[in-house]
Amino acid sequence: MSDAAYDDRPLLVLDSGIGGLTVLREARVLMPERRFVYVVDDAAFPYGNWEEPALRERLVDLFGELIAIHDPIACLIACNTASTLALEALRAAYPQMTFVGTVPAIKPAAERTRSGLVSVLATPGTVKRQYTRDLIEQWATKCEVTLVGSVSLAALAETYMRHGSVEESAVSAEIAPCFVEKDGRRTDIVVLACTHYPFVVNRMRKMAPWPVDWLDPAEAIARRALSILPRIASDAPVGRHDDVAVFTSGRADAVTRRLMQGFGLATEGGILPA
Ligand code: DGL
Repeated sequence: MSDAAYDDRPLLVLDSGIGGLTVLREARVLMPERRFVYVVDDAAFPYGNWEEPALRERLVDLFGELIAIHDPIACLIACNTASTLALEALRAAYPQMTFVGTVPAIKPAAERTRSGLVSVLATPGTVKRQYTRDLIEQWATKCEVTLVGSVSLAALAETYMRHGSVEESAVSAEIAPCFVEKDGRRTDIVVLACTHYPFVVNRMRKMAPWPVDWLDPAEAIARRALSILPRIASDAPVGRHDDVAVFTSGRADAVTRRLMQGFGLATEGGILPA
């Protein structure tokens, strides 16, 4: 590819909070030359508890503004709750834009399980989506899938990342329904179907009644984004320092800004929708 074809537009990555950073860090490894804008829709956190029509409408409006402001090469929705609800509406509203979604990793879980008992740990929103049920119908008819909607794990992960500790009994209570025993078999895979959860997976591992495979799809999503983006010139600069985090609330506190900076994201100068 010649330099003339080098497209420096950023990849826009969105989540309601810090969860999308689990995808961003994988995307960075695979695309060190790419510029990133990380959008935190913290004004709407948590997405998991929203009514579907209102959240869908919010996301369509928000992406309209973000696309106009940042002119991204593509948009990566690093959030299961938003993707399972609004991917279709976003693609219909902005047909020129490429959207990469994050949806529960039910297919790989169904392929890997040995016991046939798989659990999907997600927000209440993702658990009730038709999209999620369709994935089970399409890929996991030979397994028994337990859907576990957690009201507070995303918030617990936010607290953990900001303050470094989390109440283990609370994590334990949230994950308990994932562990099913039936006819001498036990759940052997738990799908982390919320991008916040990998941040607390070590706590989950510690509190789990038996060992399971915690399936984190972040790398697969980043690979998917890489595969559909145009190749970048081999002499493009690597290890850029102009990635930004943007907060829809407009008021990220010092601890959150520091966290973002730790991920190499500048928190000043990110442009917000009006
Ligand atoms: N990180 C989001 C997800 O992957 C959800 C967190 C929230 O409820 O806002 O589903």
